[in-house]
Amino acid sequence: MVVLAILGKGGVGKTTLAANLAAAVAEKGVSTIVADFDIITGDLAEHFAIKDTKVRDELSKTSGSSIHDLIAAEDLTQEVLNSCLVEVSRNLRIVPSIVGASIELLARVFSSSDIVRTVRALSELCELLVLDFASLDPYAVVALPACTHALLVVDNTPSSRVVAERAARACEVAGTFAVGYVLCKSRYASENIAGLSCLAVLPHDDTLLKHYGKGLPFMTAPGSPYVQKVRELARLLVGEGKRSSDG
Ligand SMILES: Nc1ncnc2c1ncn2[C@@H]1O[C@H](COP(=O)(O)OP(=O)(O)OP(=O)(O)O)[C@@H](O)[C@H]1O
Ligand SMILES: [Mg+2]
Repeated sequence: MVVLAILGKGGVGKTTLAANLAAAVAEKGVSTIVADFDIITGDLAEHFAIKDTKVRDELSKTSGSSIHDLIAAEDLTQEVLNSCLVEVSRNLRIVPSIVGASIELLARVFSSSDIVRTVRALSELCELLVLDFASLDPYAVVALPACTHALLVVDNTPSSRVVAERAARACEVAGTFAVGYVLCKSRYASENIAGLSCLAVLPHDDTLLKHYGKGLPFMTAPGSPYVQKVRELARLLVGEGKRSSDG
């Protein structure tokens, strides 16, 4: 199985990419889980139309079945795992974090071994596990050794390149294969970052927000140039597509 970490500076478009990429890969018949490892401010679930109102209500409250429960579980049983997995479509499940988590919950520091154990357990339940992190935070760094691959996300800001270069270095240390980087909210490919090549240039797309939480995340946005590029990236990652230098 493949465990793909999505890494990059805050606000570059990681979560949007994680949600859409997971949906695009699942669309191709690959059993996929996308897990929100943005433990403090995770908003992955907002990208999906979660039909189960009980789950939806729980997500908007301060508690509920989430990544927190998995990491904190005394015993990571099948039942505990299942309680935190939300099915959003055929081949696609998510593990949400909690947007409105209490300060008491956020003050809790999870151990690195519990983070790694959670990643490993989830990876056994699917063919592709996509992990959405909050920037290159300590949880991302400790989880990396359990990730087989990483995809770096940058925008046009110099600071996002610095974070991507540090993420590439973190991958080297962890033994995780950095497959390349994706440039978000842009039209042109930039030069190599940390010796990695640009796998896709995802255009700025103002229609994305309109589809927030309405469909299978934004994959339902008809004709969206962003969605088309994400589908190409999904093909590339599952080995069907050709790498293009202009994204
Ligand atoms: N290609 C795009 N075109 C237009 N807006 C985008 C694009 N990608 C992301 N956004 C918007 O940019 C904002 C940040 O995106 P997102 O939440 O995916 O970033 P992030 O890297 O996960 O941020 P954080 O580090 O805070 O979790 C959101 O409002 C999102 O809708
Ligand atoms: Mg995010």
